[in-house]
Amino acid sequence: MFQSFGDIPKEKSIDNSIALLKEGYRFIPNRCRQYGTDIFQTRLLGEKVLCMSGEKAAEIFYDKEKFHRKGAAPKRIQKTLFGENAIQSMDGNSHEHRKLLFMSLMTPDKLERLSQITNVLWREKTRDWQGADKVVLFEETKQLLCKAACKWAGVPLQEEEVKQRADDFWKMVDAFGAVGPRHWQGRSARKRGEKWIQSVIEQIRAGKLDVNEGTAAYAMAFHRDIAGKQMDSHMAAVELINVLRPIVAITDYIAFSVVALTDHPEYQEKIKNADDEFYQWFVQEVRRYYPFGPFLGARVRRSFIWNEVKFHEGTLVLMDVYGTNHDSRLWENPEKFHPERFKEWTGGMFDLIPQGGGDYYKNHRCPGEWITIQVMKDSLGFLVNKVNFELPEQDLNYSLVRMPSLPQSGVILTNISSA
Ligand code: HEM
Repeated sequence: MFQSFGDIPKEKSIDNSIALLKEGYRFIPNRCRQYGTDIFQTRLLGEKVLCMSGEKAAEIFYDKEKFHRKGAAPKRIQKTLFGENAIQSMDGNSHEHRKLLFMSLMTPDKLERLSQITNVLWREKTRDWQGADKVVLFEETKQLLCKAACKWAGVPLQEEEVKQRADDFWKMVDAFGAVGPRHWQGRSARKRGEKWIQSVIEQIRAGKLDVNEGTAAYAMAFHRDIAGKQMDSHMAAVELINVLRPIVAITDYIAFSVVALTDHPEYQEKIKNADDEFYQWFVQEVRRYYPFGPFLGARVRRSFIWNEVKFHEGTLVLMDVYGTNHDSRLWENPEKFHPERFKEWTGGMFDLIPQGGGDYYKNHRCPGEWITIQVMKDSLGFLVNKVNFELPEQDLNYSLVRMPSLPQSGVILTNISSA
């Protein structure tokens, strides 16, 4: 329940940034539970911040009359995860225009092509893995998806550079919840990545690199913004990275899928040769259950009152992603991993929000959600049906404090053979 105006819980401490780093994914859910509320006020990095959780909160968070993204993402996130002044920080018509560019890459035939590329690369992996003592699934998947993303997007990638490029894409992601070395590694990775992709864009524009018209590289190179101007080559590179980097990030969900099968062995037989519907339930549950994005930020566009709570213009508001995906009002037994729950799910726009909520075209909801689901299904299908492996003694635990979270051991596989 939202409290009446002026009555929302306000945290007394001068700043809670350290508490956020200590509590990670549970920072907002812990406080909502403690205060018996869906909204509270805190202070982070010296600023008054409203935090909110749940389906109803998500619905207003995606109301563009009420919130915008301008000035919401701190520079440290833009310099690592997003790229500066990219789609994530845009609003209004220029955001919708840019979003169309991303959505134009998500047609069924383009998804099918990525799926085919991914499946071919997985088949090649079986050959690479023959005779290997052990492999770390996280590392292998990261490189595989880097190859798949570049091939699909029309970005040339030499075999010798796969590891470095894959590592760099992941480092950009890995920096988002970090201070210190992990953050600085993310910045360097972004600098290297942007330089590389900017030169790809420039070569395409100069006619020195021939890419297929249907690819992301072509689309970014020749896209015209709302004023009819081509993006400068740096911006085009940042947006192309906004396609490549998150495809590599699907690695984490694939690693978590194997953790899920280990923690819930009853699904190991069920998923073998299961139909597409069951795969769908399974990957949806992985996306709901396992931690990735903790929360999202936006600023109040114009002051408004909602449910007797006053939101002042300019206030930073954080929307709880992890807590909403684990909200017991939306999900029965939310702490239970139970793919079958999706049998009954009607596909709400604001309840399952691991990749944001609302409308793909009008809001900031992740345009890559269908790609993510497809790549997860393809990869999981390969791992359960096409290879046999063992999971030796290892630490498959994951932290709810480290952001982003990932299985500790990286998921080590041994005794691999084709099925
Ligand atoms: C591990 C898989 C992924 C996760 C967890 C994820 C998560 C998210 C989240 C939480 C948002 C923000 C939503 C918001 O601000 O309201 C987002 C936005 C975005 N994602 Fe993803 N994503 C994933 C995969 C992808 C893929 C595969 C692509 C592209 C191929 C992609 C491209 C983008 C872009 C361009 C945006 C910005 C959209 C906008 O601002 O309008 N993501 N994603």
